[in-house]
Parts: sequence; structure tokens; C-alpha cells
Amino acid sequence: MTSATTFLFFAIHLACIRAGNSSEKFIKLECKEEYHGVYGQQSLLQCIVKAVENVTILTVTWKRMEADPLLLEYHKDTSNLTPGFTFAEPSWNKDNMNVSLLLTKTKMADKGVYECMVTTDRGDDTATTSLSVTAKYITPTMSSIPETNIKENTDVTIFCNSTGGQQTGLIWWFDQDGYNWTRRAELVAKETDDGLFSLSSKFIVLKATSSYTNYTCKVLNVNGAVEGKASFVIQLAPQVSEMNADNLDSDSTIHWLAPVVVIGSLVIGLLAALLIFKRRSTQRFVSFLRGARRQSTFPLMSDHQPDTRHDGDVEAEGLNSDSPQDQRDSL
Ligand SMILES: *[C@@H]1O[C@H](CO)[C@@H](O)[C@H](O)[C@H]1NC(C)=O
Ligand SMILES: *[C@@H]1O[C@H](CO)[C@@H](O)[C@H](O)[C@H]1NC(C)=O
Ligand SMILES: *[C@@H]1O[C@H](CO)[C@@H](O)[C@H](O)[C@H]1NC(C)=O
Ligand SMILES: *[C@@H]1O[C@H](CO)[C@@H](O)[C@H](O)[C@H]1NC(C)=O
Ligand SMILES: *[C@@H]1O[C@H](CO)[C@@H](O)[C@H](O)[C@H]1NC(C)=O
Ligand SMILES: *[C@@H]1O[C@H](CO)[C@@H](O)[C@H](O)[C@H]1NC(C)=O
Repeated sequence: MTSATTFLFFAIHLACIRAGNSSEKFIKLECKEEYHGVYGQQSLLQCIVKAVENVTILTVTWKRMEADPLLLEYHKDTSNLTPGFTFAEPSWNKDNMNVSLLLTKTKMADKGVYECMVTTDRGDDTATTSLSVTAKYITPTMSSIPETNIKENTDVTIFCNSTGGQQTGLIWWFDQDGYNWTRRAELVAKETDDGLFSLSSKFIVLKATSSYTNYTCKVLNVNGAVEGKASFVIQLAPQVSEMNADNLDSDSTIHWLAPVVVIGSLVIGLLAALLIFKRRSTQRFVSFLRGARRQSTFPLMSDHQPDTRHDGDVEAEGLNSDSPQDQRDSL
């Protein structure tokens, strides 16, 4: 073995050690490998600075590998943000090791590989993470033509619309019994901004009847998974026969209610009359007795004094002396 080979061997060995040591850093930036975002929603790309000791962050940059401009830059105590991108921590500062990036409203174009670079007073590190973006159809909205007061046995057009799908989807139609009416429906798919799709399905109910008013539509994505569904009830006009039945009902109510009211008031009147009569007759009887008594004591006093004048006396007397026997005894 020549000295040259020995040197080379040592050189390689040394290089290996150095390499191993250089990868052993004071700080390490840790990011999750991939994220799945949803169109229109927030996406959080988490990256955390791991350090053995306290470190202070000097710069942070976030960028998409495919695009040049920085999405977020922290440098010399100031942050430059691209609209729609921000630190995930609301009040991030240089002592905060959570340098995660937040996409406030994820777009289809946001998908890709993101690179985060951090420099601190104790070293620097770079890491990447990838974001995929999916889009879903929103819960469909339904409407009909005509809208309301629909006459029975007329045709009604029902619409089922949805947007936000990633690829052309499908719309299926069912009635309240679950019968599949999809074959009779007409689907129109359109591409909207941001590469998404909108669906509008038209279904004509021939000769709508009151026994079948509830129709359901389901929105399926390109893979056949249901992403949304809605139900719609056809607004038929109130039926004539039903209205007659209602009238009959209220008429018959009046029919049985009237005699009850009349008889009821008669009974009440009778009872009241009876009560008054009874009271009067008792009073008469008592005053008759009193009259008899008075006549015997004061024969000149007439019996024609108004009843009201005597009422108090009569009652008081009645309380004191219950029976004619008592009255006689008190005499
Ligand atoms: C790095 O170097 C130090 C000495 O400077 C040594 O003690 C340590 O074992 C090395 N680390 C590795 C992974 O080789
Ligand atoms: C890190 O710094 C903070 C204040 O800057 C201090 O309170 C804390 O003790 C330090 N921690 C370590 C491990 O040095
Ligand atoms: C980083 O900050 C974000 C936003 O506050 C939070 O949701 C996330 O859990 C934090 N990550 C860690 C590891 O603390
Ligand atoms: C659904 O789309 C059709 C055709 O574009 C439209 O006439 C109808 O008003 C829409 N319905 C709703 C509820 O958006
Ligand atoms: C409904 O009908 C459509 C069109 O005929 C068909 O493709 C679909 O599989 C049916 N769905 C169900 C749940 O039967
Ligand atoms: C219409 O039918 C659907 C599915 O069968 C059901 O969930 C919904 O409650 C019904 N709507 C009305 C107003 O009956």
C-alpha cells in the first residue's frame, strides 16, 4: 500500500466524520411532510424550530419551490407578507419557534412544495413540506318553475345546482319512495374560475300530484362519492276539495256550538232566576213573620215598607234566630 492510498483512506474517513458532525446542528427545522388542503378553507403548514438552547430567530422565509416570489419574509425585525399568507401564530415574534405558515383561503393554485428557511443566532436550517388541494361540491340548492301555488296535474321543472367540484360530477334524482328518476334529468356541467366545476340538473315532474311532492337530488364527484344532497317539496296550491272539507268542518262546528250556547245561557238564566226567587221568598217569609210579630207589638205599623230597608235587620235576625221556634221563644 502506498502512502497515497493511506492518505486517501484517511481523507475519506475524515470527510465522513465531518459530514456526520456537520449534520448535527444546534438547531433543526421540523416540518410535516405533506398536507391536504381544501379549496376555500385555511391550510396550516407546520414547521417548528427545535434547538438545544435558547436561540433567537434572525430570518424566516417561506416560498413555493415552483415560484420565485417569497410568500413570507421576516428579516431585520420586519415581516413582508403576500396577501393570503401569514404566520400561523397570530402575534409571532423572534422568540417564537413556531414558524408555521397559514394560508387563509386555499386556492387550487396553492398546491405544491413549500420551502421554509430559518436563520438564528446559533445556525440555520431549511425544510420542505408539500400541500395538495382538493375541492368538493357544496350542498346543492334547489328551486322550481313555477315556484309556488302550483296547480295539480301540471308540469313542474325542478333544478338542483351545486358548485366547487374539482372535476365534472353527477347529479342523481329520487322521489320520496327512493325511485331513481336520474334517466329523465338533464345535467349541464360548466368550468368556473380556478378550474372548478358547477353542475345544474333539470328534472321535469310531469303532472305533479299531491301524493308525490318531495324530490331529493344527490351530487356525486367523479369517483362516485356523494358530496352533497338536498330535498325539495313542490309547493302545490291548496286543493278545492280540501277547502270544502275545511268549510264543512267549521260549519258543523257552528251547528253544534249554537244550541250548546243557547241551552247553556238558558240554564244559567234559569238558575239565576231560581236563586233570586228563593232569596226573595225566604225574605218574604221572614218579613212576614216579623210583620206578624211587629203587628202584635206595634199594631199601627204598616207592612208596606220597602224590602231594602229591612234587609240588614232581616239577615241579622235570621242569624240570631234560625227557626220559628226560636223566634217564638225570644218573644
Ligand atoms: C462530532 O465531533 C465531536 C468532536 O468535535 C465528536 O466528539 C463527535 O463524536 C462527533 N460526532 C459525530 C456524529 O461524529
Ligand atoms: C431561555 O430564555 C428565557 C428568557 O429569554 C429564560 O427565561 C430561560 O431560562 C432560558 N432557557 C434556557 C434553557 O436557557
Ligand atoms: C403552531 O401554531 C399554530 C397556530 O397557532 C398552532 O395551530 C400549532 O399547533 C402550533 N404548533 C405547535 C407544535 O405548537
Ligand atoms: C339552477 O340553475 C338554473 C339554470 O342555470 C337556474 O335557472 C336556477 O335558478 C338555479 N337554481 C338555483 C336554486 O340556484
Ligand atoms: C340512478 O340512475 C342512474 C342513471 O340511470 C344510474 O347511473 C345510477 O347508478 C342509479 N343510482 C342508484 C342509486 O340506483
Ligand atoms: C323529503 O324526503 C327526504 C328523504 O326521503 C327527507 O329527508 C325529508 O325530510 C323530506 N322532506 C319533507 C319536507 O318531508
